[in-house]
Amino acid sequence: GAAGPATPAVVLVGPPGSGKSTVGALLARRLGVTVRDTDTDVERTAGKPIPDIFVEDGEPRFRALEAAAVRAAVTGHDGVVSLGGGAVLDPESRALLTGLPVAFLDVPLGEAVRRVGLDVPRPLLAVNPRQRWRVLMEERRPLYTEVARAVVETAERTPDEVAQAVLDAL
Ligand code: S3P
Repeated sequence: GAAGPATPAVVLVGPPGSGKSTVGALLARRLGVTVRDTDTDVERTAGKPIPDIFVEDGEPRFRALEAAAVRAAVTGHDGVVSLGGGAVLDPESRALLTGLPVAFLDVPLGEAVRRVGLDVPRPLLAVNPRQRWRVLMEERRPLYTEVARAVVETAERTPDEVAQAVLDAL
């Protein structure tokens, strides 16, 4: 009920450029639910865009706000939850994902870099995005895999096909 705990229908994890926002919106439409995005929630709490939080308050502050947003979303939203790419770095956030229908959108480097170049600014990818993305993914791949119930490849698939693959896999 409205006052009790809620469990997400789908949680999307993956690196920047994996299509979480696009696929999340498609999934929500298909399922007839809404999307909650931790990046958006953090920006609302901080009252400013993510790049400004990084510059003015530092990454640790961003990660603290993100951990709180993850907790609120995965315990309080019954639709689609889309997590910022670095949300899985926090052990408590990973623990909260246990038992939930989590899909890891696994994207090749070239496709991700092409996408983030056209997309919202990411402070961690501002300089040398290819190299930075590769390092992020090396560090995080084991964490995405650990929390995921399903690993969904995005290569050679349209966003609609990825959304369908998520539903099939979960
Ligand atoms: C980050 C990814 C971004 C955003 C922030 C940090 C990361 O989210 O949370 O810029 O550490 O990978 P997206 O995965 O939605 O780009």
